[in-house]
Formats: sequence, structure tokens, C-alpha cells
Amino acid sequence: MLNKGKLNRRDFLRFGSMVAGAALLTACPAPAAPGAAAPAAGGGAAATAGANQLEIFSWWTSGGEVEALNAIYAIYSEKFPDVEIVNAALTGGAGQGGNMKALLETRMQGGQPPDSFQVHLGRELIDSHVVPDRMESLEWLYEEEGLNDVFPKDLIAIASYEGKPYSVPVNIHRSNVLWYRPSKLEAAGVAAAPTTWDEFFAAAELLKAAGIPALAVAEIEPNFSGHVFENILITQLDQAGYLGLFDGSTSWEDERVTKALSILNQALDYANPDYLSTSWGDINDRFVADDGPAMMIMGDWTHGVLMSKGFTDYRWAPAPDTAGIFMVLSDSFGLPKNTPHRDNAVNFLRVCGSREGQDAFNPIKGSIPARTDPDLSKYDEYLLSAMEDFKSNTLSPSIQHGAAVKQSFVLDYAIAINNLATNRDVAAAQAMLVQAATDAEFVV
Ligand code: GAL
Repeated sequence: MLNKGKLNRRDFLRFGSMVAGAALLTACPAPAAPGAAAPAAGGGAAATAGANQLEIFSWWTSGGEVEALNAIYAIYSEKFPDVEIVNAALTGGAGQGGNMKALLETRMQGGQPPDSFQVHLGRELIDSHVVPDRMESLEWLYEEEGLNDVFPKDLIAIASYEGKPYSVPVNIHRSNVLWYRPSKLEAAGVAAAPTTWDEFFAAAELLKAAGIPALAVAEIEPNFSGHVFENILITQLDQAGYLGLFDGSTSWEDERVTKALSILNQALDYANPDYLSTSWGDINDRFVADDGPAMMIMGDWTHGVLMSKGFTDYRWAPAPDTAGIFMVLSDSFGLPKNTPHRDNAVNFLRVCGSREGQDAFNPIKGSIPARTDPDLSKYDEYLLSAMEDFKSNTLSPSIQHGAAVKQSFVLDYAIAINNLATNRDVAAAQAMLVQAATDAEFVV
């Protein structure tokens, strides 16, 4: 029986495997890698039938994400120079990758899957794609590539359904990071980055007096605040209470959920005041500007974004009150059934799982490799510290990034938290969360 009191790496990974159980939108293509074809025209028209192509769906269009994906493509193109890569990356939408997921659904239902697509390990992979029988199992690929020896066993379990793996994890990301600008804290007389929410609010007051927004928020779509909220929720509920939210043993009506919502509501008083019209791209530009906010609670892809800007005036700490917790998610790629260029897709998965592929991708992406045998010389101070924390911390699965719960709940959740950010009404947002949990049929 799973001990929900404190999950270590093994327990978290086991939890993931236990719980596993469209508009056509404007394409926002990533710049193509050398040798890569133009992005799919018109926002995801299927790659040309019969052509020697590889069409990949993702929502990686930001700095760091683009370069990391291109690093994988570059390795692929070197090995398979005759294959034309169709980089069908699509940004935006509600929740992470909302627009890409909507288009993917349309393509899947129309019998026109891309050759492979970005998907979070955990409930997003299993409930959205494996249970509906859309994916090929990959146990033969794991054997051929020796992946059973280099991925943590329990990570393989999260990628698996009925004992067979269905995708290749390319990374491990941490959700609960406080990114901060030391120079701005200093300018406001804040001695050190806050380690608790009480310290955060004390620092926020000093920053306010100095005319600096404390917290960067980009809530033009339901997305960013949902991310911040999962990092508050865990601090109020502890691990057992948090995991209980997804199986009905903790009620979303619980007063600790109310407290978490109140903390977010209070934090929003110190956000950039235009946060409801601020996009993900805007907030990253703002964060590096001289007159922008001092802190941002975001996953470690922010490290990738900031590195891609060549920006160095920032440090990191666990989000307030989350020292010892690693809120975890993983990006992966799988093999849809009836993919038009199956051999090319399989070779792409081989590159994604390889040491060379993971060591090229992760140091740029801001994530740590899913493999346990990386070349450590390629990873910087932040990433080495994340690797250490991943080994020793309590691992809590992310809501917003598809690890803990199925996609339908993630969307309802993101919309409820967006409602809080918009209307600033804790009771109304909590009622929406309670309804979402009822609709998702979370029962003990
Ligand atoms: C996450 C994804 C990350 C990063 C982030 C930015 O869901 O796992 O790789 O892309 O979204 O939106």
C-alpha cells in the first residue's frame, strides 16, 4: 500500500502508475532546425502523405524550448539526413498546450495523427491517449534501446499501462521554483529571498513601497495562476492531503483549500497590475527588464527561457514553504497508431531516449534528464542542484502539467483559478473546484 505521508522518488513514481489506470488555430511555429522543413501550414494540416517526413507536435515555442527541441532535431537530421522534419509547434490555449491539444484531438479523431507529439507523463498520457487505444506500446523499443536499464523503474511504471510503456520521457521538470532578481530585492531592502509565505508578504510590502511589483503573473489565458496555485496548495495540505484531492479522500471543500486560495488571492495584490492582459512572452520580457517584477513562481523551463535571453541577474529557491518538496512533471513522446511515417517516428523516439539526445536537450530546456546516466559536465549549477533535490525530496505530482490528474480536470481547474484571478472571489473559485472534482468523479 502506498504511504501517502511522504513520497520519495520511488513512491511518487508508483503513485503515478497507480492513478494511471478544435478549433483550427493559428500555428506559432518554432524556428526550424537546420535541415528541418517549414512548420505545418495552416496550423497543423497533416504532413504530406507519401513524403519522407517526420511531423512532430509540441507546444514548445518559447526561448529555451525552441533551442532544446532543435538540439534533438539536429541530432536526428545528422543521423537521418533524408528525412524532412515538419515542426508543428503550436502555442497558447487554456492550460498547458491547450491549442496544441485541441488540434491533436481533431487530427486523432480524423485518423490523421502526427508522427509523434509532446505529452506529459502520467494521467495526461494514459487517460487521454492510451486508454482510448490510440497509441502503440513500446516495450520492444525499450528493450532494443536498453531503456529499461537507464530510466528509473518507477518512471517507466508511470509511462506504462497494463505493464507496457507507451511513451519515452525526455526530461523531468520541477514546478515549484521561485525565480528572483537579487538586485531588485536589494533595492527594496529585502535581505534574502522569502522562504515562507509570511516572508513573501513582508518582502512584497517592502517592494511595493519601492514601486516594484513582487510577483510576475501572466494570466491572459487560464494557465499561469493555476501553476502558482498548485505550489500553494501543497503547502497547506501536506503530501497525504494533496494526493487525497485526486481520489476523493480530501474534499475540495476543505478549509485548507480555502486557505490556499486566500494566499493566492493576497499574492495577486502584489502582482504586476496588468496581469490579466499579460501573456507568457510578455512576462518573460518584463522579468528581465529594469522596471519589471522581482519574483516569479514558475517551473524550471523559466531557467531555459532566461538562459536563451542570455540573462544572468537571477537566482532561484523553492517556492515559499516548499523546501524539501519537488513538484514534478515529465515531457514525453509516444507513437500514435497509424502514424504516416512510422519508421521515422520510431527513430525520433530512439533519439529522444538516447543519452546523446537527453544531454543535448535538457541543459538548454532547464530540465534534468529522465535517464540516470547523464554526462554531468553538461549541466549547470541550477540543474545539478535540481538533480540532487529530485533524489532526496518528497515528490508531488503536478496538477497543471498533467501528472496527477486527467486533462478534463486540469482544464476545469485552470479555469477556476483564472476565475479567482479575474473576480477575486475565493468562495466562487472554490465552488468551481468542487464542481470540477465532482465532474472528474474523484472518489475513494
Ligand atoms: C509544461 C511543459 C514544459 C514547458 C512548460 C511551458 O507543461 O512540460 O516542458 O514547456 O509547459 O509552458
